[in-house]
Amino acid sequence: MNDATRPLWRKVLPDFPRVRYTVHAGANHWAEWAAALPALALPYRPAQAVREFEARAARACGCRNAIAFGAGRMALHAILEAMDIGPGDEIVVPGFTCTVVPNAMVYRGIRPVYADIDPVTFNVDPACVERAVTPRTRALYVQHTFGVTADVDALREIARRHGLRVIEDLAHSLGASAGGRAHGSLGDAGFFSTDRTKVVNTHLGGCAVTDDDALAARLARAQLLAPDPGPLVARRMVASFLADVACRAPGAFWIGRPMLGALRRAGVLFTWSDETWNALPPGYPYPCRLLPALAAVGISQMDRLERNLRHRRAIARWLEERIGWYGARLAGRFDEQAWLRYSFLVRDPEAFEARFGARIDLGRWFPHNLFGRPVDTRAVGYEPGCCPVAERTARHVVNFPTHERVPAGFLAGLWDRHGDWLLGQRLAAGPG
Ligand SMILES: Cc1ncc(COP(=O)(O)O)c(C=O)c1O
Repeated sequence: MNDATRPLWRKVLPDFPRVRYTVHAGANHWAEWAAALPALALPYRPAQAVREFEARAARACGCRNAIAFGAGRMALHAILEAMDIGPGDEIVVPGFTCTVVPNAMVYRGIRPVYADIDPVTFNVDPACVERAVTPRTRALYVQHTFGVTADVDALREIARRHGLRVIEDLAHSLGASAGGRAHGSLGDAGFFSTDRTKVVNTHLGGCAVTDDDALAARLARAQLLAPDPGPLVARRMVASFLADVACRAPGAFWIGRPMLGALRRAGVLFTWSDETWNALPPGYPYPCRLLPALAAVGISQMDRLERNLRHRRAIARWLEERIGWYGARLAGRFDEQAWLRYSFLVRDPEAFEARFGARIDLGRWFPHNLFGRPVDTRAVGYEPGCCPVAERTARHVVNFPTHERVPAGFLAGLWDRHGDWLLGQRLAAGPG
């Protein structure tokens, strides 16, 4: 049926009455939703929540110190400031990342220098990092893409030889570990994100972690000087959390999707929007503090982290047994990863979405190698063509969600009907 012949009710409610699994807000449960409701009136309560969230964050990351901010990108910005990295300095970053990462560097006058990635793990290739180091390099950026550990040993060895700091990006991998050591404790400082697409969800939020007490003191000072988001934005953040969790419930998304659209158009919802900015955004304080009401959600999320990770690992293992993307590369290390998504490359991601999109949001996550910045990459120092593996990955990557709202039984049904087709779509990891 084409759009013109579709009945009006089907245009208004295209998903009715389907169950649809989306990638957002998958980690939350209804008790958190109910507990956050009063925060619409009192977004700065409970005041102690940020400290308690930080204590849990430090524990989860195996670090002495955790300092929360309004977003992961803001925590990164504060880390760069605390490390005195600024104009004229360079940092080697993966050519496959979210643009808010190089943005935070550019906002401080730092030059991001891009290194290509490994085609299987989607993490930075140490040989490319080695080639990107110059006398101006001050730090290596170690990102655990989609929740899978980067080649930390090789990267730390390069950092040691060149006298560089290591900044760990565990935005995707909170709760993961490498050889028994928690992500967050593998570099000089790290940060994670708690936005609605991440392992734990507070709608918006981020946290820096470090074992370096001097660095922690500087981060605490940056937090102290950072403003709160402001009363109106704060209420919109809480409203966005509540709306997202409710409207994206798998059985309710058919009505939730138009409701989210209406709330967005009415200006009720709020999210950070500096992806395509080349200087500090004017619309909100950057960095700002984590909202206490969202920190309270974060406490509950951290207390359920192990259960959350168990589910993600079970789903990822089930998919790996059938798709086999990671293969021997993660032998013996599979259950150390956070598995924010299960990702692999297919010939035609649009055909993939057309086949599965009605029932599951496959999340064309990172369809550009600087995700969030489809054009104008030179503004953050990225010369198109300089990381060919990352660019190919972005053209072909698809991601299955792994969060608790996605039941394993649902994937089994999907596989029975479409497994052979899916395997026919799977690309080899090599160049091409
Ligand atoms: C790899 C990576 N690093 C950092 C961030 C920044 O997190 P936030 O959105 O909380 O600023 C993201 C966001 O998606 C990300 O994907």
